[in-house]
Amino acid sequence: MNRFASWWKEGVIYQIYPRSFQDSNGDGIGDLRGIIERLDYLKWLGIVAIWLSPIFRSPMHDFGYDISDYKSIDPIFGNNDDIDELIKKAHQSGIRIILDMVLNHTSNQHPWFIESAKGIPQPKRSFYIWQDPVKGKKPNKWKAAFGGNAWEFDAVSGQYYLHSFLKEQPDLNWRNPDVEEAIFKELSFWLEKQVDGFRLDVINLIVKDEAFRNNPFAWGQTIRPYDMQQHIFDRDRPETHEILKRMRSHIDTYENRMLVGEIMVEKPGNPRIVASYQGEDGDELNLAFNFSFNWLPMKAKTFEQTAQIWYESLGLQRWPCWVLSNHDVTRAITRFGNQEEKARIAAMFLLTQKGTPFLYYGEEIGMKDKRVTRNQIQDPVGKRYWPFHPGRDGQRRPMQWGPSRQFCQSDVSPWLPYHPEHKKNNVETQIADVNSLLHMYRNLIAIRNHDEALRIGRIKFLQHDIPDVLCYVRESEALIRLILLNFSKKEREIPSSLIAHALGDPSFRVLFNTRQDQIQETSDSIILRGYQGLLLCEGE
Ligand code: GLC
Ligand code: CA
Repeated sequence: MNRFASWWKEGVIYQIYPRSFQDSNGDGIGDLRGIIERLDYLKWLGIVAIWLSPIFRSPMHDFGYDISDYKSIDPIFGNNDDIDELIKKAHQSGIRIILDMVLNHTSNQHPWFIESAKGIPQPKRSFYIWQDPVKGKKPNKWKAAFGGNAWEFDAVSGQYYLHSFLKEQPDLNWRNPDVEEAIFKELSFWLEKQVDGFRLDVINLIVKDEAFRNNPFAWGQTIRPYDMQQHIFDRDRPETHEILKRMRSHIDTYENRMLVGEIMVEKPGNPRIVASYQGEDGDELNLAFNFSFNWLPMKAKTFEQTAQIWYESLGLQRWPCWVLSNHDVTRAITRFGNQEEKARIAAMFLLTQKGTPFLYYGEEIGMKDKRVTRNQIQDPVGKRYWPFHPGRDGQRRPMQWGPSRQFCQSDVSPWLPYHPEHKKNNVETQIADVNSLLHMYRNLIAIRNHDEALRIGRIKFLQHDIPDVLCYVRESEALIRLILLNFSKKEREIPSSLIAHALGDPSFRVLFNTRQDQIQETSDSIILRGYQGLLLCEGE
C-alpha cells in the first residue's frame, strides 16, 4: 500500500459526502456499500485516500455532524462490518481511509450529554459547558453559527449549555481532561481498525474563554448575528495548541496516520492563524485547510498572491494542502460561472501546487451547483436563513454517474434531487470521451503520481509582465517542471527566453496540455490560447 514515502503529503485526497456518492440498497441515500462498489473508479482516478464526511450514528440534524456514538456506523450508511470491509478493500486498492471526527460538539442524543443533562452533580456534568444564568439571563452574548444564541436554557438544572452550532449540538468541555481522555479512546478505536487519519471538524473552536468574555463587535460579511462578532473568545484559544500536540502524539503512536483540520474562519481568513494549527514545529495537525481559494475570483495575480501568502505562512517546516470545493461552499466551477475551461485552469493550479490537493466528489467531472427549491431544502442553514442563504444542498446533490438513475438504481427519489444536467454530464459520458474533464483530472493525477518534482519539489513563481498568466517552476533534485496557466480568454505570448530561463534549456517538451490542439510556436515565443494550461519539461 505504500505507494509514496509519505502518502498524505504526496497523493491526492478525495472527499466523499457519503449521503450523495452511491446508494447500494435503493433507499435514495448513499451508503458504505455504495462506496465499496465505486472503489474501482477511485483507483482508476488515481487518488491516494478518501475522506468520508461523518458516517457515525447520528440523529442527522446536521447530517452526521451531530454524532451520538463515535464507535458505531449510522444504520442509514450500513453497519460496522461494512466499514471494516471498506477499510480492507480500500487498502487492497492502495486507497487510505480518513474519517471525519466532530470533536467540538456531540449530538444532544449522545449518552454523555443525556447523562450530563440529568442534573448536578455527577461526573458527566462537566463533559459539556454549563453555566448559571447571569442576572437571570444568558451567560453572555455569544451567537450560534447556525442562528440564534449559543446558549440553551435547561429547566432541570436551571443552567444554560453552550452550543456553537444547533441546539442539538452541545459543545464538549475540552478544559476537562476526562473529555480528552474519552475522545482519545474513541480515536484509538478507529486507529486500531486501521483507519489512516482523521479530518477534524471546526477544530479551532474546541476551547472557549475560561471567563466567557463577550466578543467584540465586528462589521460582518453577512447579516448573520454570528458574523457581527469578532470571534476571539469562542475560538482560537491558545490552549487548543496544547491539546493538538497531545492528539498528534497520540495518533503518532500508530504508524503512518495523519490529522487534517478544518479551521473555521470568517472571510477572508488569516492564513497565519490557519498555519499555526500545524504547530510551530510541525507538531500539531499534519495538514490544515486554508479556505482562501474557496471564494477567490479567477484572477492570475490573486491566485499567485494568495498562494504565496499561504507558503510564507507555513514556512518550510509545515506541509501545505489545497482545496477549491467542499460540502460547505459553492463548488468552484459554479463560482467561475459554470465555465469548464476555467475549471480546467483551476484544476491544473490545484494539482501542480506544492502540497496535498483535496478534491470534492464530482469536481473531476465538473459537477455544478444549483439551489434546491424551498420545499426541497434539507440543510438546517438553508431552513433558517432562506432566501438570504440558500443552504448547502446545492453542492451536495447526488453524484452524476450516468445518464439515468445510477446513483440509487431504483425509482425512489434521491434524498436531494439530481442536478438537471446529470443526463448529459456524468462519469459514463466523460469516460467515453478522452478529451473530457474527467480524463484531464485522471491524466494529470497520473503524471503527478509519477513525478517527483510535482509531488515534493520546491515551487518558485516567475516574475514576468504577461498579463493574466501564471508561470511557476516545480523542482526536485533531478527534475524541473514549468507550469504556464492562462487565466484569460485571450491568447498570450510566452517568450522562448522565459521558458529557456526557467528550464535551463531552450528546448522543451509538453508533458501535459489542457487543450487538444497543437501548440503554436513563433521564432521566439509560444502562444498560449485562451484558458490554456501547459506543463513543460526540458528536452526535445
Ligand atoms: C463544519 C462542517 C459543517 C458542519 C459544521 C458543524 O463546518 O464542515 O458541515 O455543519 O462544522 O459541525
Ligand atoms: Ca442507501
